[in-house]
Amino acid sequence: MIKNNLLIRALKKEKTERPPVWIMRQAGRYLPEFMRIKKKYDFFTRCQTPELATEITMLPINEIKPDAAIIFSDILVVLQAMGLNVEMSELIGPVIKNPLRNEKDINNLTVNDIDDRLNYVFRAIKLTKNELNNELPLIGFAGSPWTLLCYAIEGKGSKNFNYTKQFCMKNSNLAKKILNKITKATIKYLKTKIAYGVDVIKIFDSWGGILSNEDYKIYSLPYIDEIVKSLHSSIPVIVFAKGCWHSLSELSKIEVSALGIDWTCNPKFARKITNNQLTLQGNFDPNKLFQPRHKIKTDVKKMISEFGKDNYIVNLGHGILPNTPVENVKEFINTVKDI
Ligand code: CP3
Repeated sequence: MIKNNLLIRALKKEKTERPPVWIMRQAGRYLPEFMRIKKKYDFFTRCQTPELATEITMLPINEIKPDAAIIFSDILVVLQAMGLNVEMSELIGPVIKNPLRNEKDINNLTVNDIDDRLNYVFRAIKLTKNELNNELPLIGFAGSPWTLLCYAIEGKGSKNFNYTKQFCMKNSNLAKKILNKITKATIKYLKTKIAYGVDVIKIFDSWGGILSNEDYKIYSLPYIDEIVKSLHSSIPVIVFAKGCWHSLSELSKIEVSALGIDWTCNPKFARKITNNQLTLQGNFDPNKLFQPRHKIKTDVKKMISEFGKDNYIVNLGHGILPNTPVENVKEFINTVKDI
């Protein structure tokens, strides 16, 4: 039994004394200790060394004291395990040397031994669970198949992934073949994460927002739905589909426990379009953490009153930004805890 089970209870739509709070990318570049470790080890070394991943996961737990831990890793490790050569460049972000171009590339993607190749993540989960000592729940995560396909085809980050979208428009069947393979790999990966003890799963659809509602129903929603269904409600699942206000209604009808909301979607609209049925998470603009602390407090209280304190998880509307003052992050968390 986990001692602080606010997050789990909010996800089960049970009443809580206050909403739980955690922060996307809470083990990030605003923490001096994170920057110290980052100087010593490159990105994928940090991900692939279970002791380092555990140490990094625990940094925010001790420093800002959120109500959940999220395992330090990246959504792109799944593409790496499937056979793509992903590197993290300090200046450009992720770079894939062998992006998918044709059917042969797609046939070469590995699905079956994905668990062996991602064994380091499972070892990190085991170590982190020990470290957490049942104090807090641990969140495990994966990228949505659509978001991973964006990187796999584009070969790097992009503002609008035009090359990827054109690929899909020209080769819809090939795109679906990739999405199916990523879906199969992700299901295997998440089931093993659950077996190793994560308490909650989060699926990041960071690039769903570049699709229309019509295309979202072709290229993203069905695959997220398949993943969620395959987990048979064994543990709660949060889906964060950034910029996907256009498809929140459809997303609210799959078997998710909660939906993440970004700041472009106001709380009342989010509640209404999800039929007041679901737990919602979000949606503080990460830039607002640069405001004076008294203003952060006022804005957090306003956000909570607009979402309502039940069926709600306090979080940002996207990952925390580098250089956010740690004291301001604590103000954000403590405002929620003082409720
Ligand atoms: O939330 C957490 O603290 C857990 C760790 C986590 C990371 N990436 C570590 C990371 C999580 C949940 C992710 C998810 C992720 N990774 C997403 C989905 C969420 C989102 O932000 O939309 C995406 C799209 C990625 C891919 C990715 N990883 C990009 C585009 C970049 C470069 C841009 C950037 O922010 O630097 C990364 C690098 C990355 N992943 C960093 C961290 C802490 C920063 C680089 C570093 O530490 O060296």
